[in-house]
This record gives sequence, C-alpha cells and structure tokens, in this order.
Amino acid sequence: MQVQPARSVQITTHGPVIRVSDLNKSFKVYHGRKGFLGTITNFFSNDYKLVEAVKNISFEVGRGEILGYLGPNGAGKSTSIKMLTGILTPSSGEVRVNGLNPQSNRRENARQIGVVFGQRTQLWWDLPLIDSFELLRHIYKVPADRYRRNLDTFRELLDLDSFINTPVRQLSLGQRMRGDIAAALMHNPVILFLDEPTIGLDVVAKERLRNFIRAINKEQDVTILLTTHDMSDIEQLCKRLIIIDKGSLIYDGGLDQIRRLYGKYRTLVVDLESDTFANNVPLEVPDAVEIKGEGPRRWLQFNREAISAAALIGQVAARYPLQDLSIEEPEIEAIIRQIYEEGFDAKRAG
Ligand SMILES: Nc1ncnc2c1ncn2[C@@H]1O[C@H](COP(=O)(O)OP(=O)(O)OP(=O)(O)O)[C@@H](O)[C@H]1O
Ligand SMILES: [Mg+2]
Repeated sequence: MQVQPARSVQITTHGPVIRVSDLNKSFKVYHGRKGFLGTITNFFSNDYKLVEAVKNISFEVGRGEILGYLGPNGAGKSTSIKMLTGILTPSSGEVRVNGLNPQSNRRENARQIGVVFGQRTQLWWDLPLIDSFELLRHIYKVPADRYRRNLDTFRELLDLDSFINTPVRQLSLGQRMRGDIAAALMHNPVILFLDEPTIGLDVVAKERLRNFIRAINKEQDVTILLTTHDMSDIEQLCKRLIIIDKGSLIYDGGLDQIRRLYGKYRTLVVDLESDTFANNVPLEVPDAVEIKGEGPRRWLQFNREAISAAALIGQVAARYPLQDLSIEEPEIEAIIRQIYEEGFDAKRAG
C-alpha cells in the first residue's frame, strides 16, 4: 500500500498507545419534566438517577494492536470510546491516548486519532464524498502529496470511484461506511476507533471492510480499537478482546484463551446409513452425548480433553454404519453469549 508512515503528532515511541486507569463515567438521568421548561427545572432538581455507564475500567493497548472491545447492548462501549476520543469527560480516572489527555488536548488528540461511529456519519451530508475529503485535508492540513497518495490508496482499496462524486445523503449504507473510514484515515492517524463499523452491512461489504482494516493495521501500524456485535469481525481481526458488562471489565485476554477455556466441547456430526435410524433412538456411545438428532443426522457432543475426535469416531463407527461425518468447532458466538449470560468464569470454563 502506498501510504506514508503515520506522522505521529509528537510523544511516545514506546510503551502503550492507549492507557486507561480506573475510568468511570456516570450520567445523571432526570426523572422530572420533559421539554424545555422541564430541562430548566430539572437543572435545579435533585430528582435524578445516576447511571454508571463505565465503572473502574483499566487497560492498556500497545502500538499496532487490534483490540476487540465487546459487551452486550448498554455495556458502556460507546461511552468508553467517547472518553478516549475526547467527546466525553470522565467522572473520574485517567485516560492517555498516545501520551495525551484527550479532554484537555482535544485538538491535538483529534490529529492523532481517527473515529468512525457506524451509527452516524461524520461526513458532510449534502456534499459529494470527495468534497468531504477535501475539507478534511484543509482542517488537518494534510500536505498535498500525502493527501493525493492516501486518496489514491483508499479509492483503490475501498473501491470509492463509482460514488466519490455523489452527495453523501444519496449513498447506500455500505458506500457511506467506506467513505467514513477513508475520511477517518485521511490525516494518517496513529489510532483508529471503530464503533460498530460493519453494522448493517452485507457479507461482501463486511469482508471488504475487514480486509481494509487488516491492511491499514499491517501496513501503517495503525492501532485499532474496535467495537462490534459481529463475532466474525472479532475472529477475523482481533487477537485480544476486552469484554465489558454493565460498565465493568469482565475479561481482558486472548481470543484463543477464551476458546481454549470455553471450547472444550466439540460436536461430532454423523450421518447414519438410512436403514439404521428407524425409530430415531439416540446413539449410545461412551464419552459422548447425542444432543440433537434429525433422522439419519446426529450431533454427538464430547469433551475433547476426555477423548480425541479420532478415538470417538472409531467408537461410533464400530457400533453404527456411517455414511459421513464432520466435527463442529465451538463457535465463538456461542461462547461469547455464554459469557454475557453467565459472566466470565475461568474455573468453570476450564
Ligand atoms: N448521554 C447519556 N445520558 C444518559 N445515559 C447515557 C448517555 N449515554 C449513554 N448512557 C447510558 O450509559 C449506558 C452505556 O451506554 P453505551 O452507549 O456506552 O453502551 P454500548 O455498550 O455502546 O451499547 P450498544 O451495544 O447498544 O451500542 C447505557 O445504560 C446508556 O443508556
Ligand atoms: Mg454503542
């Protein structure tokens, strides 16, 4: 890719690029009157509830990492990102982004980060996409040659040409998202915050975006913090995850570690020969349990620490005539759902 190395504004060349310590954010939600008068009276009112959106979160992100920032709806992901990008001020705790405090150095911080909120565009709604890019070039004072190179790269990798002269309001969701990501990177930020960048995109568009994110990370060493509800995004992009729930951090570690801890069960799917499943009797095999049966197709769950797949296949084949078989890996989606529902419990997982 023909993009120049990111020009960091100043500061650190070593150590973590993002450092979050004991971060908290509470919102006052007033119960009182609605509307303008309500806002005035509520301002002086004590009738509010405190929503603790982020509670005592600490973590660090190293240069060049892609960190998946996960959690169920309302967990506090977007609130965290807003504090990291300087949009919101923490109630307490400390944030350093490439050495800067994002709130007190909002301008400088803006130069070193790129932000995409999938739910709403940062582009100028009435202008053609290319005009948004030009405006950003001026706002961030991107040198002409670098801008040209970046634009060429993004046009190619994100396939922008067919709609680059179209007003943003007329773009499809997938086109707009590609435009948004290009815009967020036009000034060569060293850190990119992506809040649900693949929301609402079709599978092809998602794939294209993931490839682009991977390329930008690899070739420009851009550090990326990604929130998403799409586990395929996580599987394809992130080695490390943070999971938050109700404002608190419940997991910080590798994706493979989660898989190892939670993924001890696998499923052997077998297709029996048609004359052997007459009355749908569940198969009986030591070390495995039939968890589902549809005619000749049976799903046998087994603990891979107790028996190997090969040994189990041998056992099944010795008892039943088989036509076909396959092994299903534990799906990360199911694992994450379980963690959302039950919390993270390394002991139970193991
Ligand atoms: N400006 C605000 N005023 C009051 N409460 C807020 C505000 N912004 C967020 N909250 C509350 O803080 C909590 C966390 O919200 P946040 O948007 O960070 O969640 P999220 O993890 O991004 O969820 P989602 O996956 O749905 O995007 C929620 O309970 C939300 O209602
Ligand atoms: Mg959110």
